[in-house]
Amino acid sequence: MASAMELSLLNPAATHRHRGGLAGLPLARRSVVRFRVSASAAAAAPPKSSGPKKRGKTEIQETLLTPRFYTTDFDEMERLFNAEINKQLNQAEFDALLQEFKTDYNQTHFVRNPEFKAAADRMEGPLRQIFVEFLERSCTAEFSGFLLYKELGRRLKKTNPVVAEIFSLMSRDEARHAGFLNKGLSDFNLALDLGFLTKARKYTFFKPKFIFYATYLSEKIGYWRYITIFRHLKANPEYQVYPIFKYFENWCQDENRHGDFFSALLKAQPQFLNDWKAKLWSRFFCLSVYVTMYLNDCQRTAFYEGIGLDTKEFDMHVIIEV
Ligand SMILES: [Fe+2]
Ligand SMILES: [Fe+2]
Repeated sequence: MASAMELSLLNPAATHRHRGGLAGLPLARRSVVRFRVSASAAAAAPPKSSGPKKRGKTEIQETLLTPRFYTTDFDEMERLFNAEINKQLNQAEFDALLQEFKTDYNQTHFVRNPEFKAAADRMEGPLRQIFVEFLERSCTAEFSGFLLYKELGRRLKKTNPVVAEIFSLMSRDEARHAGFLNKGLSDFNLALDLGFLTKARKYTFFKPKFIFYATYLSEKIGYWRYITIFRHLKANPEYQVYPIFKYFENWCQDENRHGDFFSALLKAQPQFLNDWKAKLWSRFFCLSVYVTMYLNDCQRTAFYEGIGLDTKEFDMHVIIEV
């Protein structure tokens, strides 16, 4: 998942708390609950993975637009992927997708080099700050995908081993993406404690139908965001301020494959696409995701300008392509 699952507007609890609608967003941003990930917090709940040493601390500001962690009705998921109940499941298509995921095209792609640290050291002032925020948010969003896919892989093992294995392999990809972003944070002497985040953060519940809409959109949006940034920086190398963007071309292919898998999943559940209620819901999701993305990006124009992009044009391009 890329800047994925940024569907906070759809969180009923959040919308209730901030019932001032979209106009209330700047206020919501200020009245944040601070979620602290620090060296002391890490000591209280050590993660299983060793990871980079925490040489600093970083905080995620929990706002209406912060990337969230998701959970779903796993029993319903098991019913949906039971081939005896659902005759629409195209097992041959899932077998083919599984082979593609097993190929693991990006196994050796995410290798760092000394350019990263040097580029981070050159960054100063507001750009440095906005870059750190970009890395934190992206890492959280990727990690959110990892957690959800990992659990789906675990829960669907008995019902549909092929679909389950694809979920597990997608969680492999997302863990790689999150890990790479977290290593980026280490260039700024920071690290997100992902083990602690897993335990301490609240999870937002979505029914399977909404998980499908949300993840499909997130993956496709992620693909278009990454490839657009990559192509822009290739054409305008003077804005290449940090080498992580050079990895986006192959990286976004992971997101594209994830999106294709969700497309196959949705085809196997035509009830989520075909009746008038489903059509309304999917349109509502589309609109909500686009609005959330746009609001998020508008709050971070400094980041997009820092890499030579016009935020509005960038978002319009991504929305049109998706
Ligand atoms: Fe990802
Ligand atoms: Fe993904």
